This record gives sequence, C-alpha cells and structure tokens, in this order.
Amino acid sequence: MYPHNRFTHALTRTPTDNLSAGLTSQTIGAPDMALAYQQHTAYQDALRACGLSVTALAGDPTYPDGCFVEDAAVIYGDLVVITQPGALSRRGEADAIAAAFAHRPLIRLTGEAYLDGGDVLFCADRVLIGLSERTNRAGATALRNALRDYDSAVRVEFVPISGVLHLKTGVTELAPGVLVFSPLMQTEADFSFAECHTLPEREWHGANLVPINDSLLIMEGYPTVTELAAKHARTVHTLAMSEFEKMDGSLSCLSLRYHA
Ligand code: GLY
Repeated sequence: MYPHNRFTHALTRTPTDNLSAGLTSQTIGAPDMALAYQQHTAYQDALRACGLSVTALAGDPTYPDGCFVEDAAVIYGDLVVITQPGALSRRGEADAIAAAFAHRPLIRLTGEAYLDGGDVLFCADRVLIGLSERTNRAGATALRNALRDYDSAVRVEFVPISGVLHLKTGVTELAPGVLVFSPLMQTEADFSFAECHTLPEREWHGANLVPINDSLLIMEGYPTVTELAAKHARTVHTLAMSEFEKMDGSLSCLSLRYHA
C-alpha cells in the first residue's frame, strides 16, 4: 500500500464566526470563537512543525462545518476523491475542496454515494471505510472502486460502526499497526491484525490522533493517549481542541494531509 502517513502538504480551511451553527451531538456549550481561532492557528503551526507546507482556504459562513475539510476528500497517492458528505448541510463544502485540487486528476462521488472522509482510515496494510450515519454502502463501494482502479493491490474493508460520528472518532492509528479506540464505538469488525488499545470511558474523545511522518498530533486532556504516544512516537504535538470538540470535531478532521 502507498505509504499512508508520509506527507509534504496539508490543506485547511479557516473556521467562521458561526461555527456554533454547525452540526453537533455535544451539549457542552457553543465554541468561544477567539479561542477557536487560536486553537486553529496552533493546529496549523503544528502541521508546519511536522514539515508540512500548509494552504489555508478562507472560510465561508454558508458552511459552518467547512473547517472540517477532511470530510470532503480522500487522498491516496496522486488520487483525489472528492466526496459527497453524508449531511445535506455539508454537501456544498466539497466544491471549494475540488477547486483547491483542480490541478490534479479528480474523481467525484455522485448519485446516491455518500461518504465523509472522517470514515476512512488508512492503517497497517489496509484501508478501513466506516459505514456510519454519514457514509453509506454506495459511498464506500464507490471509494473502494476508485482506490482499486488506482492501486490494484490495495486492501479495502468495510467497517459498520455506531456510537460515534465517524470511524476516525472511534479509532485511529498511533503508530504502524497500533490502533487506539474510543470505548464509545460499537462494531463487530475484526481488528486482530493490529495491536489495539481501548481508552477509558472518560477519555472517549481522545482516540482521534494524527500520525504525520515521524510525528504525532494528539489532543490535550487525555492522559492514556499521552502515555501511549510517548512510547510510540519520536515527536508528539499536544494540542488544545476544546472549542472544536464542542462541535464533534477533533484533530484529523481539520486538515487534508497529502504528498505533492
Ligand atoms: N460538526 C462536524 C459534523 O458534524 O460533521
């Protein structure tokens, strides 16, 4: 499989003042926007510290969830698949992302194929696609076909999930073959191909982390993740994400990482 955690570039999109109008299942209050902008800037600085060149698109208040750019595309090698996000209010976000990658060959999901990039996890020797409230089987199948057309050797598995928004809210890869799980995610999938760590109940949101080259981005406030990260990663960037957590956001959804 194409080396999936080696990147040179990242795309982000600045949040807008109406971030609180976005979708969320949390009831912990509206984001403090001054703090949200500060956290977003620190996040971009961390991407740069990992060696990435960051392009920041301007936010558009039509799409209060637009800063969560990961949901609008899946990038694998040179292949860019522009998604149709599962939530109706977010569908138009994909146009700005498609425009940002217009210089590359693009595939766009159409028809009844709905998929959020947050449901796609490249880990170990495979790609997992979560079947969630946002990603349906038609979307997962369309992405699988696009990935296989690009790389006939790619191994793709579907993972039906519940209890969390996206697959990557429920599980991410801390180091090659080492997975960290949220205790909230329910799934019958077999993860015996990996070393698995499930977080304690109170740290349920900490399972979303981002490996980039030899570094790891983790969220502040999750001691078990901090401990695991110290064991497995050479450089760890710990970021405050409180204002995005209020909107069901976390680390991976705030950028698209890619090789250019
Ligand atoms: N607020 C992120 C989402 O629900 O898609």
